[in-house]
Amino acid sequence: MSANFTKFALGLAVALPTALASFSATAVEAVTIRLAHNLEPSHVVAMALEQLGDDLKEMSGGKMKLRIYGSGQMGGPRETLEMLQQEALDMTKGSASEMEAFESTFSVFSMPYLFRDKAHFHEVLYGEIGREMMALPKDKGFMAIAAYEAGERSFYATKPIKSPADMKGLKIRVVSTPTTNRMIELLGASPAPIAFGEVYTAIQQGVIDGAENNEPSYYHTRHVEVAQHVALDQHTSVPDYLVISTATWDALSAEQQEILMKAARKSEDYQRELWDAEVEKSIKLSKEAGATFYEVDKTAFRAALQPLYDDAAADQNKNAWIQRIEAAGK
Ligand code: GCU
Repeated sequence: MSANFTKFALGLAVALPTALASFSATAVEAVTIRLAHNLEPSHVVAMALEQLGDDLKEMSGGKMKLRIYGSGQMGGPRETLEMLQQEALDMTKGSASEMEAFESTFSVFSMPYLFRDKAHFHEVLYGEIGREMMALPKDKGFMAIAAYEAGERSFYATKPIKSPADMKGLKIRVVSTPTTNRMIELLGASPAPIAFGEVYTAIQQGVIDGAENNEPSYYHTRHVEVAQHVALDQHTSVPDYLVISTATWDALSAEQQEILMKAARKSEDYQRELWDAEVEKSIKLSKEAGATFYEVDKTAFRAALQPLYDDAAADQNKNAWIQRIEAAGK
């Protein structure tokens, strides 16, 4: 079943123009798709989802509508992914870390310094490996139909972090997974499993010392106001996904599926084009808001985190994916 989906997903870019031309938009049945996510409206992934709604409407002659519930209105990704499984919601955004609890293969994205460079990351995310992975959870109630890059995650805290030694004793919020928790522990810090929307208050009240994220999320959540020291250690590249409930997908007609897939892929391109500039802008605005960014020796962080690779070697599935990913970067 998932093999068919992969084939379909991979073939789509080439097959679509003719396929879409073969029916008229007026023949598409009306449908309203409900999508919930936890990002602020100014975040580029949230913007790509807005764009998805506009494109769906246009491509379907107004028949396919997207109703978006942003800013965590329906809860965090854990809750919204569960709602997809329970058929209580149609779509959501889930980062690879957030998907890990449902499909462990996504844990590979929490492996530090897995990608050589951006080209390697893109090759994996938008290429055969990434597309195959997106279809994996289909039997568990949902699957991903678009991937959004989310840059590199770095640590930030109320005090400077210039080397792994500065992490000692800090309480750091993570999207809690076995891999992220172990990563924090290997650096001598304690992982705190706090919801994204509650990180600001947790730092402000001194419950935690910091967190880790990409620069746009750091800026748009205003974490910059409460944790002004950012170590550019860039430990992981964890993408975001547009995720649809398998039940919703199966209930769509072939035409609706094609339109949705085409709009989803277009939103990928849109988000990818905006990303780099958004990172630059967020760094600039964060500095203006008082943040200090430290260039750190990444090899020191990499060395401290090496045991994660030793652990992974004992996990056959994880190890096989890591090997494939590493081979794609050569
Ligand atoms: C990033 C990512 C989100 C995720 C968030 C988090 O912003 O894009 O999908 O929810 O990190 O740390 O919770």
